[in-house]
Amino acid sequence: MLIAPSILAADFLHLEKDVELVNNHADIFHLDIMDGTFVPNISFGFPVVEAIASAAHKPLDVHLMIVNPEKYVQRFAAAGASMISFHYEAALERTPEVVSLIQSLGVKAGIVINPDCPAEKIFPYLDTVDFVLIMSVFAGFGGQKFIPESLDRIRTVRAELDRLGRHRTPIEVDGGVDPSNAALLKEAGAEILVAGSSVFRAPDPAKAIELMRV
Ligand code: DX5
Ligand code: ZN
Repeated sequence: MLIAPSILAADFLHLEKDVELVNNHADIFHLDIMDGTFVPNISFGFPVVEAIASAAHKPLDVHLMIVNPEKYVQRFAAAGASMISFHYEAALERTPEVVSLIQSLGVKAGIVINPDCPAEKIFPYLDTVDFVLIMSVFAGFGGQKFIPESLDRIRTVRAELDRLGRHRTPIEVDGGVDPSNAALLKEAGAEILVAGSSVFRAPDPAKAIELMRV
């Protein structure tokens, strides 16, 4: 199991301190980019990603919650992303082009779906993506409650990836992840757990990460 702390829940006044707190414990840094249009919230942009890249010892995973993701993937790759995911709902029939564009930059491409998007919608793209991100809350805000139906959606996508022979394409899960559901997520087929509040709001973030490494 790989654990990806979400910087959205970090202390923005002391970002370096929070990066250092998890630098030797996290596997990946998860960075949420929100544009106020695709989701009703705005987070942070390129300068913050660059700053985190300069301090992080682990790969950066940029989760784009923005319209027209193809307009910005190059700049996020240049800012230091090793993985970039975009919402299927923001790309629809342009999905194959966005995947190719991300991969052409030497970055792993992930496709994301919100809890109300039928998992089958992304089946046509599963043989090309490098990872799949299944939202277990509606994208836009940290600190929401895990939606239990997400477990079945993970199983559905895992089964289709396996049917396609994509046994090594990982499923990432994002939203309301904490030590109480990590084992269930693993059993359903998740391999990367994104965790914001349960890491940065924990008394001991390093210990919280280890508790999720089931
Ligand atoms: C929500 C973001 C998440 C968020 C998770 O739109 O994509 O990455 O930071 O936060 P928690 O773990 O607090 O639910
Ligand atoms: Zn996210």
